[in-house]
Amino acid sequence: MNYRELANKYGTPLYVYDFNHIKEQFNEFKNAFKAKKSLICYAVKANSNLSVLKYLKEMGAGCDCVSIGEVNRALKVGVPKYKIIYSGVGKRDDEIRDALKNDILMINIESEEEAQRVEFIAKELGVKARISIRINPNIDAKTHSYISTGLYENKFGVDVESAKKMYIKAQKSKYLTPIGIHFHIGSQITNIEPFCEAVKVVSSFVRSLKSLKIDIKFFNVGGGVGIDYRGEETINIYDYSKVIFENLTGLDVTITCEPGRFLVGNSGKFLTKVLYEKRSSKKRFIITDGAMNDLGRPSLYSAYHDIEVIGSQADVSKADVVGPVCESSDFFAKDRELPKTKHNDLLVIKSAGAYCFTMSSNYNTRAKVAEVALINGKDKLIRKRDNFNDMIQNEITCI
Ligand code: LLP
Repeated sequence: MNYRELANKYGTPLYVYDFNHIKEQFNEFKNAFKAKKSLICYAVKANSNLSVLKYLKEMGAGCDCVSIGEVNRALKVGVPKYKIIYSGVGKRDDEIRDALKNDILMINIESEEEAQRVEFIAKELGVKARISIRINPNIDAKTHSYISTGLYENKFGVDVESAKKMYIKAQKSKYLTPIGIHFHIGSQITNIEPFCEAVKVVSSFVRSLKSLKIDIKFFNVGGGVGIDYRGEETINIYDYSKVIFENLTGLDVTITCEPGRFLVGNSGKFLTKVLYEKRSSKKRFIITDGAMNDLGRPSLYSAYHDIEVIGSQADVSKADVVGPVCESSDFFAKDRELPKTKHNDLLVIKSAGAYCFTMSSNYNTRAKVAEVALINGKDKLIRKRDNFNDMIQNEITCI
């Protein structure tokens, strides 16, 4: 089925994901790491649709979760609890309690106070919590500042010195077992250098912990490998695993990875129809039925997404592609060379598999859109479009 047929069958705006592409990406990642003990925990936040999770689980993926909601999604599709990691800078007591009750592989700790909370709750439950500590290596990932996470000015993780104290303390605790170490320096990283630096810092720290008899079994390199949005060069996954292997020589650890965007980003397309074209004295605007609430990356990070017009290719000129939301930041592209469009023409916005649907909202009381999977040439609905009642069902009129 082509894009036009999919748009006619399911309506627009619409997300379409090519699951075969997800499989290829997963297999490539797995192959790159197969020479060592490894565990690939897919970063659920990138695309948390249950079918996506189930599909990755069937191929052997675990899950990296950032809320108890994401942990529950992973459990719901049958991801084994020993393949589930729970990260995040602010976990509530009830989230920690549920994670411990579910006996997941480990909780990634991001502060001294969090370690205390986890210890306290583990004691209450009478369990020993398996933990990992997230290191902030103070390395610039050279990506958009909003998705850079490995600098001291970012809220994530703790510096090596603090981590050392936390490991020593945790080792002595009756309720904590430190089994892992973690770092994640940012997302959409296209240059391997920052990874090399981070792996170097964290692996040498692991060696110093061994001499303190703290036995790190899981070396978690986080996610962050960038994808190609506009033909740009990005990291070769085999170079990436090689750098990690080289730094871990002689250490008996399971390499844990948390790829999100790499696995799903380029599998996705966002289909949106043209409502109107209009011109001001300064600009040409293509107004679509999709908007920033459906796909917010251009508005949030000035992110570039390639756009294809299905149909006519005539009269190419610069245009802003904008949605119906009442914000000037509601755009998919600015000054993009695109053909002349008319009512009901279809636009395909590319690289929309990661951080697109998951960041969508009901802003302007716009219903969240439908999602479709393409598997071996067949199309399957994996999320129904919300309707008006879905949007208001939890609201209470008290007057
Ligand atoms: N692990 C941790 C702890 C993370 O915080 C993230 C992403 C990942 C793994 C997965 O990173 P990836 O492989 O996908 O780069 N909304 C932004 C991206 C935010 C990333 C947040 N953390 C965007 O649309 O670009």
